Amino acid sequence: MSAEEPHEVHLVVNGTTYDVQVPARRLLSDALRHDLGLTGTHVGCEHGVCGACTVLLDGRPVRACLLLAVTVDGHEVTTVEGLAGPDGTLSAVQEGFRQCHGLQCGFCTPGFLTTVTAGLRENPDPTHEEAREMVAGNLCRCTGYQNIVRAVERAAELGREQA
Ligand code: FES
Ligand code: FES
Repeated sequence: MSAEEPHEVHLVVNGTTYDVQVPARRLLSDALRHDLGLTGTHVGCEHGVCGACTVLLDGRPVRACLLLAVTVDGHEVTTVEGLAGPDGTLSAVQEGFRQCHGLQCGFCTPGFLTTVTAGLRENPDPTHEEAREMVAGNLCRCTGYQNIVRAVERAAELGREQA
């Protein structure tokens, strides 16, 4: 079997099942962006370093540039497009970033939003240090992180108010 031979994969993304034919070496990040048209997942380094491509796999943050699409067959993937409510209402994390100006160019933002969404599910009431640690694995070239950490803390507040 050649590496280019297509494989049928069922990707469950943001609650919708997509059946796609992909070569075995197709990265999940490329499958999301190019096969499904979900370009909210950004690709920076393609080496697992920057975090721009972070999506949730069965609720846990993963680097989509380090996973092959065939390996997530049938699993639940959530991309940044799946974070807002069905009517477009921003999630607490998105709202926190909006209120605290946690983004400038926005390239890194989808990865931060997915990472923080998972982080606050695990720890809904982080200390300042824990909020910093939550985003420590994601790189931003613009913001200096101060507003991002503030956004995490605001998102935590909003999440607790909504709970
Ligand atoms: S593009 Fe995946 S971690 Fe940078
Ligand atoms: S806002 Fe530009 S890279 Fe983070």
